[in-house]
Amino acid sequence: AAAPLWGGRFASGPSPEMAALSLSTHFDWVLAPYDIAGSRAHARVLHRAGLLTADELDGMLAALDALAADVASGAFGPVPADEDVHTALERGLLDRAGKDLGGKLRAGRSRNDQVATLYRMYLRDHARRVGVLVADLQAALLDQAEAHPGAAMPGRTHFQHAQPVLLAHHLAAHAQALARDLDRIRDWDRRAAVSPYGSGALAGSSLGLDPAAIAAELGFDAPAPNSIDATASRDFAAELAFVLAMIAVNVSRWAEEVIVFTTAEFGYARLDDAFATGSSIMPQKKNPDIAELARGKAGRLVGNLTGLLATLKALPLAYNRDLQEDKEPLIDSVAQLELLLPAVVGMTATLRFDTARMAQMAPAGFSLATDVAEWLVRQGVPFRVAHEAAGRCVAVAEGGDKDLIDLTDDELAAIDPALTPAVREVLTVDGSLASRDAVGGTAPVRVREQIADLRARIAAD
Ligand code: ARG
Repeated sequence: AAAPLWGGRFASGPSPEMAALSLSTHFDWVLAPYDIAGSRAHARVLHRAGLLTADELDGMLAALDALAADVASGAFGPVPADEDVHTALERGLLDRAGKDLGGKLRAGRSRNDQVATLYRMYLRDHARRVGVLVADLQAALLDQAEAHPGAAMPGRTHFQHAQPVLLAHHLAAHAQALARDLDRIRDWDRRAAVSPYGSGALAGSSLGLDPAAIAAELGFDAPAPNSIDATASRDFAAELAFVLAMIAVNVSRWAEEVIVFTTAEFGYARLDDAFATGSSIMPQKKNPDIAELARGKAGRLVGNLTGLLATLKALPLAYNRDLQEDKEPLIDSVAQLELLLPAVVGMTATLRFDTARMAQMAPAGFSLATDVAEWLVRQGVPFRVAHEAAGRCVAVAEGGDKDLIDLTDDELAAIDPALTPAVREVLTVDGSLASRDAVGGTAPVRVREQIADLRARIAAD
């Protein structure tokens, strides 16, 4: 049976109520492989410090290998009396190495430095996996952009028609946000790559152990410079919770557009059957559940971030058991993104755009009015006057129930003598798009460069 990791000064074991509240194996078991990796490294530094003989080290590593195999196969797992992943693995080690040898491993370490280290390892690993999935979504967006190089669509502000843009430019805008998310993961990892191992409970180790050696073996850049901070801080978790929430929020903005674009009113795109659902009662329905779940899960990830920050607020140094509440939010955020992103990638890759419909809508809502104003500015008209004249063009066209390009020569001249028939050269969507050719603009030549640049950044990772 499992025994707690303490006992000498206790007359009884924990009450059932205490044990039930304390239990964390139902969520912290995901740390098991990292805990075993930490134990291997710890055994080696114990040996180098003269606290394990060469034979004992061999025996310890063999027992840890056996334990790792049993954990991986599922043959070994936590039982209800194991308080946490560390307690369970200690029991597993004692079973395999014997109590005398197995009981030596705990020297010079505490669950406080262990858990802080393992949690960083787990998060660094999963942040990398999430990063790969984010890059997959970028690639799906850019594939769609490149498949529709000349397609125009209405660009919106305030969700109203604003100015025509290229579909490729719009899709690349989402890819740009995801590129910053990938930067954030990379930048976060530099700060997370510091190993708390060797900090002990809070004050450091007295047994001549080498934190730098453990840090290197576990893939960290350096050992933590302060044992109190190393065991007490969780800003590495909160920061990643933000980065993951930001990813979910960015994905939710694309998801919301997919939901809108696939309505009958918009008709910009259709979902592939494999990435949509039907209705149990309405036979005609095709629902964008993936996009809706993306929207919904973004809220959940924001909650995980705010919940963790609330846990950390005003906690005194160093370790407090409150810190055990650090895990479920992030384990959940990671799991949700690892589930969600592949589905969003598939939905995005298989989306079929109706470019004719989008092109038809691109000039609607007088979205070329800015082009009229800017054409007048190029003729030397002050912008204030030009804006007014273009606004009059909209009013006259709206009153006559026609488009700007259908205004007669007389109507144009009556609005402003500077409005000669030549203005019609900018009253096409293609003319408008091509004219916005400064860096970052929606002109086809600039969008091609932008996509090539994003592709290069993805390839460099
Ligand atoms: N399960 C604990 C946690 O996640 C491990 C550390 C417990 N330390 C302690 N002294 N009770 O925070």
